[in-house]
Amino acid sequence: MSILKARDLHVAIGENTILHGIDLEIAAGALVAVVGANGAGKTTLLRAVSRLLPLRQGSLHFDGRDIGAEPAHLLARSGLVQVPQGRQIITGLSVEDNLRIGAGSLGLQTTEMEELLEREFQRFPVLKQRRGIPGGSLSGGEQQMLAVSRALMMKPKLLMLDEPSLGLAPQIVSLIFGALRELAAAGVTILLVEQVAFMALKIADHGYVLQNGRIALSGPAPDLLRDPKLIERYLG
Ligand SMILES: Nc1ncnc2c1ncn2[C@@H]1O[C@H](COP(=O)(O)OP(=O)(O)OP(=O)(O)O)[C@@H](O)[C@H]1O
Ligand SMILES: [Mg+2]
Repeated sequence: MSILKARDLHVAIGENTILHGIDLEIAAGALVAVVGANGAGKTTLLRAVSRLLPLRQGSLHFDGRDIGAEPAHLLARSGLVQVPQGRQIITGLSVEDNLRIGAGSLGLQTTEMEELLEREFQRFPVLKQRRGIPGGSLSGGEQQMLAVSRALMMKPKLLMLDEPSLGLAPQIVSLIFGALRELAAAGVTILLVEQVAFMALKIADHGYVLQNGRIALSGPAPDLLRDPKLIERYLG
């Protein structure tokens, strides 16, 4: 069963059409990578799926429902949660409070909130060590972990991440991608958008290569990795 299905998505920003007919399908429990160069339209795609940008044409189904006209804030509550490019954590708020407000809109019982918090502290122990300090004092890698954990506090059915590797050292990227692989193994469906194509495809089940607002190539990630030259050609 697919949890997300996009058909013939056309998205414009102002006068400029950025996405020209995207077809994308994500099976429940899969880790799907969308890779592409600077300006290929990756962020635009995620913003359209999150309903932060209007569709000019095409359809969008999430969890069996047509969400083409659904407001973004309702979607997050129904399990479509995005970790935005640049992380957007609240710098003046403590690490722990950043996590708590992630789940704030769900109206959880205190015990469930504490369980979710403890689960994230186990996933990224550094967040537990730093729980009392302002989010803005964390390193880039720690801030990315916080952004991922904050999204997970919302109990996503589909977790979408926009270039979590940006500006991070390769070891930190490996750590974060390892956590994504574990999440997928635990049944969380993931849409990972990345410029570091090969690292992303290595942890993905299925991959799409985006070029100038179009899907240039797609298939099972191991098949795509078999021909690196082909992928490189589209990454420009
Ligand atoms: N607010 C905007 N107004 C006009 N054009 C925009 C706007 N935002 C993005 N674009 C254009 O849309 C295209 C796709 O941008 P997008 O941010 O989706 O790319 P991206 O793949 O996420 O790139 P990056 O890897 O740099 O984050 C680019 O050509 C960009 O210039
Ligand atoms: Mg982007």
